[in-house]
Amino acid sequence: MQQHYQFAGFMGKRVHLGVTGSIAAYKALDLVRSYLAADCLVSATLTDSCTKFIQGLSFEALGASPVYSDMFDARGDSAFDHLEPGQIADVMVIAPASANTMAKLAFGMADDMLSCQALAFAGPKIIAPAMNPRMWDNPATQRNWEMLGDLGFIRIQPGCGKVACGDTGDGRFAPTEEILTATLKALSPQDLAGKKVMVTLGPTREPWDAVRFWSNPSSGTMGACIAMAAYLRGADVTVVAGPTALEFPAGVGVVSVTTAQQMYDACMDLWPSMDIGCCTAAVADYRPKPFGDHKFKKGGSGDDGITVEFEPNHDILKTMGGMKTDSQKLIGFAAETNDIKANAEGKLQRKNLDLIAANDISKEGSGFGVGTNQMYVLDKAGRKEMWPQLAKNEVAWRLWDHLLLD
Ligand code: CTP
Repeated sequence: MQQHYQFAGFMGKRVHLGVTGSIAAYKALDLVRSYLAADCLVSATLTDSCTKFIQGLSFEALGASPVYSDMFDARGDSAFDHLEPGQIADVMVIAPASANTMAKLAFGMADDMLSCQALAFAGPKIIAPAMNPRMWDNPATQRNWEMLGDLGFIRIQPGCGKVACGDTGDGRFAPTEEILTATLKALSPQDLAGKKVMVTLGPTREPWDAVRFWSNPSSGTMGACIAMAAYLRGADVTVVAGPTALEFPAGVGVVSVTTAQQMYDACMDLWPSMDIGCCTAAVADYRPKPFGDHKFKKGGSGDDGITVEFEPNHDILKTMGGMKTDSQKLIGFAAETNDIKANAEGKLQRKNLDLIAANDISKEGSGFGVGTNQMYVLDKAGRKEMWPQLAKNEVAWRLWDHLLLD
């Protein structure tokens, strides 16, 4: 799972997972692991049909506790296990949900442990179906799906493709990342709700001839973590992404670009309608003057080497800073190898930023291609902080905390 999905720090939050009879039931084990990795506590209820596919022991072995199944074979000391998740869990996730369980939940039935627990649960409920495409397309299932939406369930649309029985269509269980993200969002403070956030990330590629380009090794992970943290905290997020292997959940808008000029054009288009901008992209400051649209062949000028001329690209962040209105906030990053504090200070002023996060990319555990960063953070109000080396997700979470301090 890519790092920007792996947020930790949800210590003490309780997820109750309901698993129903589906070939995809085994994938619920991945969900348990991802919740535990996020520091959540996990309990589970398996329906009778689920236990035909996978047993409670597998969930217990991974660390889920308690694991309920039969309504009249209570695992705890209490005769009221059917009410327990409603009393202590922060979020309930029914994944995978069969057509049968969807119907029960839509109509408020309570004839087994899971449906009782769901009925007695007043917190956020997430549902992720998995079934045969013809069952999914059936008007009865579609009506139940609509009803679940009206009842306030957070619905995760099944994917399209080939399902276990060989049929093709809608009904595939959503990826773990998608369900994990919806769960963590339900557990997060919604302190960026109503804000439109734009994040630039990744490298740019500046073509020289038909096959070669000028670029850098940015993976875009820091920007992806910032975008995801904002999304989890309720923002409406758009990323402007240079070439990377990153994927984002359906709720995050993605504008894919290749060159610095394309990134600049996309940002100029988006920035006026945004509340907050955050530029993490490693934009090429210069582009090679194009050799042409054909391939450069060696040997043409002997073995004396070649000279490539460069011309400047726009400074996207600086241009955004110049356009910034009083209601907008702008965050910049600085990749430095020396004089980190002075350089960061200079960039904060020069680019008219509200906050800058600088790191020394020559240090181990900071910068390109690693999962951690050590940031020096300063803002317009004069706050200056040197943070310890932290996972990039944690840096992202803290940056939003810091910006929201105003
Ligand atoms: N940036 C940008 N457009 C550019 C260059 C940089 O938007 N053409 C942004 C980066 O996304 C980052 C900040 O400006 O948020 C600082 O980038 P950095 O590479 O550290 O510094 P530069 O401004 O390029 O200056 P220098 O390379 O001289 O340190």
